This record gives sequence, structure tokens and C-alpha cells, in this order.
Amino acid sequence: MQPSHLLTLFDWSADRIQAVLQRSVKLKAVRRLRAQRHTLSGRTIALIFEKASTRTRVSFEAGVANLGGSTVVLQSRDTQLGRGEPLKDAARVLGRYVDAIVMRTFAQATIDEIARHAGVPVINGLTDLSHPCQVLADVFTVMERRHNWRSLRWCYIGDGNNMANSLIEASAQLGLEMVLACPDGYRPAAEHLERAKQMRTPLSVVTDPRVAARGADVVITDVWTSMGQEEETQARQKAFAGYQVNADLMKLARPEALVLHCLPAHRGEEISEEVLEGPQSVVFDEAENRMYVQQAALEVLLGVGE
Ligand code: CP
Ligand code: NVA
Repeated sequence: MQPSHLLTLFDWSADRIQAVLQRSVKLKAVRRLRAQRHTLSGRTIALIFEKASTRTRVSFEAGVANLGGSTVVLQSRDTQLGRGEPLKDAARVLGRYVDAIVMRTFAQATIDEIARHAGVPVINGLTDLSHPCQVLADVFTVMERRHNWRSLRWCYIGDGNNMANSLIEASAQLGLEMVLACPDGYRPAAEHLERAKQMRTPLSVVTDPRVAARGADVVITDVWTSMGQEEETQARQKAFAGYQVNADLMKLARPEALVLHCLPAHRGEEISEEVLEGPQSVVFDEAENRMYVQQAALEVLLGVGE
């Protein structure tokens, strides 16, 4: 039987997403109480990185250790993958040593190929297309603060990147009302928008950030230049002028609106210092929550716990 994976949130039903969110509540309580939970005892998780990371790496490493498991971190340039070993060979070998694989890479096709051949669950720790672990944490962070999180108005302002795409996945799977404001030429993935449309998702993409922010309960943004796009930085700064989440834009949102950013943030670019550090910002809870949603995802994919 093929294992289940988390390559994008389109892989998971609304029921599974809800189950993981509920389990994350328990895992957060376990951590707060410093209670013992050994659901990953005897399990080893490989973490493969082809791009830099702080949160993803540490939240997976600490999260697995807290549940009694262990991790092996591989910077792909130090492995035979970096010397061109076929993905399908590396995947089959790793799948014989470890119980699950987390991968951060560029092309979605790379992680799809690993998942096809590993024989163990594979989790997307960020690709150019999708960042499902982060958006699970975002949804969990809003759920913690707003019991009516499913009927809120969510907005995303900025680049139609991996974060925008995973928010579309969440909106489609959970029926979240969402408006994304992205400049022309920087829209989210066309195949994501088409799929969301087929699923009758209450979602729209606009170009005016003020239209997206107006009446929003949740305001999310991300960097204008993602990892791997560094050469486009100047062009992007031009294209995204006017898309900053700042106090002026926040005046259009609901007064109690929450502000999320997956971090790292570029203060003064996509978000002002004032908003990032202000009372509406929940970015550090959001970062903390990565750990619990990922622990929950691992437990569910490995069929352990509960
Ligand atoms: N938000 C996020 O994925 O952070 P890192 O790049 O530090 O892992
Ligand atoms: N969109 C950003 C997210 C970083 C966590 C990137 O891909 O670099």
C-alpha cells in the first residue's frame, strides 16, 4: 500500500486537516505542561534541505525529539543527491532507513518524485509551489484565537508565491473566504486557481491591496522575493510598491484583525515594523505553532498516538 503524504494541502481532506488541528491543540498542551509523550519513540525522520531554514528545521528537530523520535538532517549538497544521484534511487534508499522524510526543495516535481519512490510518508517543508506546514500553522494560530475561524474573511497581500498557493489550498479544502491581492505578473499558480474554482472555493484574486484588506479579519503577507529569486529583488521591489502591510492598510481591516507572516520578514518592505511588532501581530505564536502542527501531521501520517 502507498503511504500518505503531505505534498500540498490538496492531498488532505477537510476531515484530516481538522483532525490534525485538533491534535495540535493536545500537542501544544503537552509541550506547555512539559508532559511526556513518546509517540515517535523508535522512529527516525530524515530532513532534507536544498534551501536555507531556521523554523522548519528546528521545529521539526525539536518536535520529533519531544515525542521520543530522532532526526537526520541532510543538506543535499553534502549528499550524493548534490552530485546527481537520481531522486528515485535516493528516495528508495532513505525509505529503507527512516520512517518519514521531510524535504525542502525548489521544484514540486522533485518532492513528488521522492514521494513516489520512498515507500514512507513524505512531508513538504517548502517548495517553490507550496508551503503546507506553514499554512497549517497559520490556520491553527487563527483557530486558537477565533472560535469562528471558518467564517472569517481572510486576506493575503503580496507575491503569488508558495504561501499564497497553500492559502488557496486551505481555502479550497476548508471553504475559507479569502481574497488575495497580487500585482499582475505575480499571481498565484494558475493550476491552483483553476482547481479552487472547480471546488467552488469562496476565493478571489484582485490587484488592489485595499480591496483585499477592507473588512478582513485575518491579514497575511510574505516576502516579495522568495528563496531562489534573489536576482529579481529590484524588479520585485518596484512591482510590489504599494503592497506593504502597514498601519494605513490595517485601518481598512476590522479593528480586531489578526496579522500573520511566516517569517523571515523584511521590515519596511512587505510589512512595516509597527504592524509586525504591533498588538494585532501573532507572528511568534504562528512560528511556535509550526512545531505542534508538524508533530500532529507526523503522528497522523505514521498512524501513531491518540
Ligand atoms: N517560515 C519558515 O518556513 O521559516 P524557515 O525558512 O526559517 O524554515
Ligand atoms: N515565500 C518564502 C517563504 C519562506 C519561509 C520563500 O519561499 O522564500
